[in-house]
Amino acid sequence: MKKVKTGIPGLDKILNGGIPEKNVVLLSGGPGTGKSIFSQQFLWNGLQNNEPGIYVALEEHPIQVRQNMLQFGWNVKPYEEKGMFALVDAFTAGVGKSKEFEKYIVLDLTDLRDFIDVLRQAIKDINAKRVVIDSVTTLYLNKPAFARSIILQLKRVLAGTGCTSLFVSQVSIDERGFGGPGVEHGVDGIIRLDLDEINEELKRSLIIWKMRGTSHSLKRHYFEITDNGIKLLK
Ligand SMILES: Nc1ncnc2c1ncn2[C@@H]1O[C@H](COP(=O)(O)OP(=O)(O)O)[C@@H](O)[C@H]1O
Ligand SMILES: [Mg+2]
Repeated sequence: MKKVKTGIPGLDKILNGGIPEKNVVLLSGGPGTGKSIFSQQFLWNGLQNNEPGIYVALEEHPIQVRQNMLQFGWNVKPYEEKGMFALVDAFTAGVGKSKEFEKYIVLDLTDLRDFIDVLRQAIKDINAKRVVIDSVTTLYLNKPAFARSIILQLKRVLAGTGCTSLFVSQVSIDERGFGGPGVEHGVDGIIRLDLDEINEELKRSLIIWKMRGTSHSLKRHYFEITDNGIKLLK
């Protein structure tokens, strides 16, 4: 089984080489746990490895996403120009100036077909190998009953492409799960990020709950976020 390296220091080792190719992995966690940084680092490391990537922004303005990535030294602009990186704007709905600047815009966020069409086009255009959707939760926020069907539809789109994908899933601070039964059972892998108060200090950790196609660590691994991104400790 071919593995896709996350490039996040320490993580590929506990995944026994990386994420099995074509897996759809749920990256689940509460607010501020590092989901966006993790997924951006995954894409950036792909670019360094000549693997084109797509970031679908549902939670933040695309300009903000580029800015956030730049903060870690991950300048995606040249990769966008080369056609190796694409940002899908599923945030602005084309309102404001985004139409002048963004190549991929989902105009009707209530219509999953529109979303899928734009995503498909972006994947095809740049021959993407890595895809991040940040977050899938936003897609079914107002229709939780459709969560599973939305996840399955997205999986079907990605299955035909050879992409390895991260679906960011938002859970509330005290929630033990990963985003609801429909979502959790539909994916190939689950990585959960946590932020816990220990001795009056917040500690970051992650756990690989599930990863189809490989053995992996079942331990909790502590990590930190620095100006270079995420790094597992020891
Ligand atoms: N340069 C940095 N150095 C250390 N920590 C940072 C840096 N930038 C952001 N962070 C931390 O990352 C958190 C945000 O991570 P993010 O991936 O956006 O979280 P999520 O997407 O899970 O809500 C911030 O709350 C902050 O604690
Ligand atoms: Mg985020």
